Amino acid sequence: ELLSPVAQSLSGRHAVVTSGPTHEPIDPVRYIANRSSGRQGHAIAAALARRGARVTLVSGPVTIATPAGVDLVAVETAREMLAAVEDALPADIAVFVAAVADWRSADAADSKMKKGPGGPPALALVENPDILATTGHHRARPRLVVGFAAETNDLLANAVAKLDRKGADMIVANDVSKGGADQGVMGGATNTVHLVTRSGSEAWPQMTKEAVAEKLADRLAVLLETAP
Ligand code: CTP
Ligand code: CA
Repeated sequence: ELLSPVAQSLSGRHAVVTSGPTHEPIDPVRYIANRSSGRQGHAIAAALARRGARVTLVSGPVTIATPAGVDLVAVETAREMLAAVEDALPADIAVFVAAVADWRSADAADSKMKKGPGGPPALALVENPDILATTGHHRARPRLVVGFAAETNDLLANAVAKLDRKGADMIVANDVSKGGADQGVMGGATNTVHLVTRSGSEAWPQMTKEAVAEKLADRLAVLLETAP
């Protein structure tokens, strides 16, 4: 282990982390997805595990390695992700980092859709379940429920609205207006975040996703220690 040891501040705790994108089938060979690499979510799972927590990492399809010491539940769709999160409860901490597809095909085809004289098919969409909001209002709600939010405008106002709507204790808001397309947050190595809670917000300097994970894990350990 090359990483320096950290205090076992989360031993005896269970944490659930969602990570990566979801894939929503259109037909057996096509899907709706997004550019999430899973890097931030996996780093948070790793940081929590290093502090002694038992970690259930519910991840959509990613190409990065599963961190040491976490229990991976691999899923594809938002509905599978929600079921896996509910199966993993109870937990002390839940951190929702996955870039869940907001919509899925209303009627995924059982066989490959073919081109034809009728022109392109219309793709009807329906909204996916909100995994964070479901957990934030769950009868087995974890003590600490943390969401992420990527915003370009009104970062703090949007983050506060998401806190309330989703029943979260904290939103880690990504300022995706910082940096050009060449240093996009999705798939990129760094994040510039604001930590938003009901008692206010704090801006963190730009840092690697691993550094965000370490700082967040330390904060969650303190909150769990001091929360009523
Ligand atoms: N989230 C979730 N399930 C969904 C959509 C979002 O669990 N179906 C979680 C994300 O993992 C993230 C938080 O909710 O922690 C905020 O996601 P975001 O996409 O910013 O919020 P939305 O409610 O989807 O709103 P919008 O995309 O319209 O801004
Ligand atoms: Ca969304």
